[in-house]
Amino acid sequence: MRITIDRVKQMKQAGEKIVMLTAYDYPTARLVDQAGVPLILVGDSLGMVVLGYDSTVPVTMEDMLHHIKAVVRGSQHALVVGDLPFMSYQVSVETALVNAGRLLQEGGCQAVKLEGGERSAATVRALVESGIPVMGHIGLTPQSVNQLSGYRVQGKTPRAAVQLINDARALADAGAFAIVLESIPAVLAKVITEKMEAPTIGIGAGPFCDGQVQVLHDMLGLNPDFAPRHAKRYANLAETVTAAVTRYAAEVRSGVFPSAKESYGMDRPASLPPEPEAESLRQDVRKCSAP
Ligand code: KIV
Repeated sequence: MRITIDRVKQMKQAGEKIVMLTAYDYPTARLVDQAGVPLILVGDSLGMVVLGYDSTVPVTMEDMLHHIKAVVRGSQHALVVGDLPFMSYQVSVETALVNAGRLLQEGGCQAVKLEGGERSAATVRALVESGIPVMGHIGLTPQSVNQLSGYRVQGKTPRAAVQLINDARALADAGAFAIVLESIPAVLAKVITEKMEAPTIGIGAGPFCDGQVQVLHDMLGLNPDFAPRHAKRYANLAETVTAAVTRYAAEVRSGVFPSAKESYGMDRPASLPPEPEAESLRQDVRKCSAP
């Protein structure tokens, strides 16, 4: 049985911190799910993290569906939230309904996430009224990187902070079951969190949010060239993987791998069929047989 959106809301009421992590494929979804993480986000960050784009802008619905399906197959307990990619929900409420519906019907996730506050509220309302749980996302909204002129902390001026409070309120009023706050000052995240009934989930938004989300590859240290201030490294998998791959390559080159332990044996020559053509094979096997 998967976690429900009601359970996520209860966590806020009970003062229980909400843990969310991204996953983009079957094996990582399994690990994250088995570690007891209740919310898995198949973020469009997959465009940068696993597809090598320099922003999330090129990510398509087909990309999202491909990865959401794998994560759903790999998880049993977590609520899987699928990101609506750039331009899949901005054009019209109708397009948003069609695309969000696809993420649930074809992808198998249980909720969608979209970016934007007041500007996205009507869409959120329509999705929720159609039975699609929505997670909002305000602050630094990476799909708008070109409009924002880069990845910058948002809400630092009083005017911008008030706008973000209004954005959060608009999303909550429209029925969002939770709201991601990305890269905003910790004190502003605290104010928003205290004002909202809907849980807030922060990334680069300080410790006062109801929950936290991180990009799995950042916290595992899988990309040595990328270390955002808000991401704490809990492992250095880049080092571990490089060491393992280097050792494998050296062992293949030197002939240490594969050894007899990693090789398969053959039936004993005596048990080979009596046909004449098997005779030469019988002799080859005898010659090659390990002592
Ligand atoms: O795409 C993503 O991974 C996200 C998180 C950073 C919140 O939106």
